[in-house]
Amino acid sequence: MNKTIIKLVMTILMFGLMKIDFVSSTTVDELKKLIENATIEANTYEFPTDARKFEAKDDKIIELGSYDFVIIGGGVAGSVIASRLSEIRRWNVLVLEAGKVEESEFNEMLGYTAFLALSDLSWGFSSVPQTTACLGFLNQTCRAYRARGMGGTSLMNGAVYERGMPSTFDEWAEITNDPSWSYENVLPLFEKSEDFHLRNPNTPVESEYHGKGGLLNVEQKIPEDFVTSLFLEGQKELGTDIVDYNGRSQLGASIFQLYTKNGRRQDVYEAFLKPVKHRRNLHISTESYVTKIDIHRLSKKAKGVIFTRNGKTYRVKSTKEVILTAGVFQTPQLLMLSGIGPRDHLQEMGITVIRDLEVGSKLKEDPICQALYITTNITKITDTLDQRLQQFLQGEGPLTQAYSTSGVAFLKSQFEEQNYADIEFIAASLEKSEFDVRYAGWKNETYQAAWGDNTNAIAINIHNVNPRSSGTVRLKNADPFEYPLIDFNLMSDPEGHDMEVLYEGINRVFDLLKTPSFQNINPQYKGSPLPGCEDYQFLSKDYWYCFLRQTCTAAFHVRGSCPMGSDPDEGAIVDSRLRVFGVRRLRVADSSVLPTSMSGHPVGTIIMIAEKAAQTIKYDYKSSQ
Ligand SMILES: Cc1cc2nc3c(=O)[nH]c(=O)nc-3n(C[C@H](O)[C@H](O)[C@H](O)COP(=O)(O)OP(=O)(O)OC[C@H]3O[C@@H](n4cnc5c(N)ncnc54)[C@H](O)[C@@H]3O)c2cc1C
Ligand SMILES: *[C@@H]1O[C@H](CO)[C@@H](O)[C@H](O)[C@H]1NC(C)=O
Ligand SMILES: *[C@@H]1O[C@H](CO)[C@@H](O)[C@H](O)[C@H]1NC(C)=O
Ligand SMILES: *[C@@H]1O[C@H](CO)[C@@H](O)[C@H](O)[C@H]1NC(C)=O
Ligand SMILES: *[C@@H]1O[C@H](CO)[C@@H](O)[C@H](O)[C@H]1NC(C)=O
Repeated sequence: MNKTIIKLVMTILMFGLMKIDFVSSTTVDELKKLIENATIEANTYEFPTDARKFEAKDDKIIELGSYDFVIIGGGVAGSVIASRLSEIRRWNVLVLEAGKVEESEFNEMLGYTAFLALSDLSWGFSSVPQTTACLGFLNQTCRAYRARGMGGTSLMNGAVYERGMPSTFDEWAEITNDPSWSYENVLPLFEKSEDFHLRNPNTPVESEYHGKGGLLNVEQKIPEDFVTSLFLEGQKELGTDIVDYNGRSQLGASIFQLYTKNGRRQDVYEAFLKPVKHRRNLHISTESYVTKIDIHRLSKKAKGVIFTRNGKTYRVKSTKEVILTAGVFQTPQLLMLSGIGPRDHLQEMGITVIRDLEVGSKLKEDPICQALYITTNITKITDTLDQRLQQFLQGEGPLTQAYSTSGVAFLKSQFEEQNYADIEFIAASLEKSEFDVRYAGWKNETYQAAWGDNTNAIAINIHNVNPRSSGTVRLKNADPFEYPLIDFNLMSDPEGHDMEVLYEGINRVFDLLKTPSFQNINPQYKGSPLPGCEDYQFLSKDYWYCFLRQTCTAAFHVRGSCPMGSDPDEGAIVDSRLRVFGVRRLRVADSSVLPTSMSGHPVGTIIMIAEKAAQTIKYDYKSSQ
């Protein structure tokens, strides 16, 4: 044996399956080509208005046989569940995903996240026209971005890792009457998924709340940028604690924890499923669009699934369960298409009612206002694209975070009666950008006025993470190739609570600007009066109310379209074991089931829910065999 081989064998013996970090062989020029291409694609992208491209060419149904478990949607939750269920060798698991397996290195550059929403990865949903928010956006609609492809919306999101307040889960245990949802009981599941890596020791990390060795890499972006440090200093001067928001208490300021790996996007398929995709009992069928869950009318038992692929229609049977993880809009859409939903609505659509449940009736979304631009006298770093790409290849720098953000604070408004955060601030360093107009769907004149004369701007985004308002998901008609009707209904609660919280947010941004740290950069608000708000005295409370209704839009943290609970008469769709009430062998286990607001970014919690779903299913079937 030659020396190198001996050394290799010794290394393997000593370190077992030691991870050897992937060293990128990509060059700056290759990345530049990908960027050029994506720019063209994003600038010519047209929003689809339906899913017609998945339609079959004829009516013939091809029978495909059976699997123990059929998982609908290979997104965040679907990828985790497929990974965990296929650990049981004797179970056959099928994943049906409308999109493809995406492997472009472009997608790994978080700095270009917004471009992905305007690409073939995107479903391109928008809300129906709104009356209480999104008024400064085209057609008074809010964008409702979701991705398709293995990994789901983690393919094009901001990769922020956050779990919410520990007491959230104790509340869930109460709502569901099931102590297994308490924080004490779900913390091990959060930790099971996580592989935490400290890269920036500037903010505290409470290691007893973090996992090591899990499938999901969690880290911070490095190096810390000027705006982030400034934001943290300003918060300290206001008396805000600097915390690990995934630790004992979420309340306070910090820097984002991201589920990137060496600064690159690591989507949930890549983390959880790709490493085991060769398992012989796991079958991933991409470009497969599910149109219906087959439910026996009398026994109310889910028997399988109908889907289309390449112009043909297939039926596949499930001998144990169908698991629905098609995301917050399409999970309720599929339930309703399959006869599970509000009786009146289904009858109006001409769909036979199998089970009358308030599916899609409590859609929750957070409003975010990203239009509070502040002029400063800071000299912005003007690295060239080549320099930024060089940094990216080393796992660092501005291209390793989305939307130029990384300073964050979770705060309580004076209206919050419990101990939850209801205001989240996100600090960002921004440039005026035609592309942002396209991405967010701004009315150009509103965007231009919001910018006003601001130069060298930073933005403090105001995000209401515990809103009282709710909206709906409904069908347009009984056609599975139509998009669902999404009505966010943001800031519409009759007491005006959500508006009060956002208005307090605006005032607290101005308090932040008065701190010594911010005074050092001479902050000034130079926005112009917005179209539609000219009748109010500029910068008065009435003006800011108008401003909020014009500029607040959906934060993409949508949840709760099929909430978990203990009583279907009170609007619960699934029980604490995630089984659909009154239907057998059918579970829902994605962002649809969150029963309350959870004060923040949902992916960490959705992964936990998926881990719990898999654990529950394993328990249920082992005990019954
Ligand atoms: C732009 C953006 C930024 C975000 N940033 C963050 C962030 O930084 N941190 C965070 O925590 N959250 C973030 N989110 C939210 C987060 O990504 C979602 O909450 C999460 O991905 C939802 O997971 P899910 O499993 O419920 O659904 P998804 O991940 O959306 O997966 C659903 C899957 O089902 C597939 N599917 C749907 N219908 C069908 C059908 N009929 N047949 C077959 N397949 C189907 C879809 O193609 C998709 O792959 C962001 C979202 C967006 C849009
Ligand atoms: C450029 O984009 C087109 C589609 O928009 C795609 O087919 C092609 O493969 C892309 N080229 C590269 C180098 O990524
Ligand atoms: C706005 O509505 C008009 C008419 O209803 C429609 O033609 C147009 O495509 C819509 N634009 C957007 C961006 O949704
Ligand atoms: C938006 O308005 C600005 C300023 O009036 C103008 O320069 C720009 O071309 C407009 N963009 C679009 C897409 O209309
Ligand atoms: C920015 O403004 C502040 C306050 O006016 C001043 O103290 C500081 O020197 C200025 N900095 C620069 C770089 O101009």
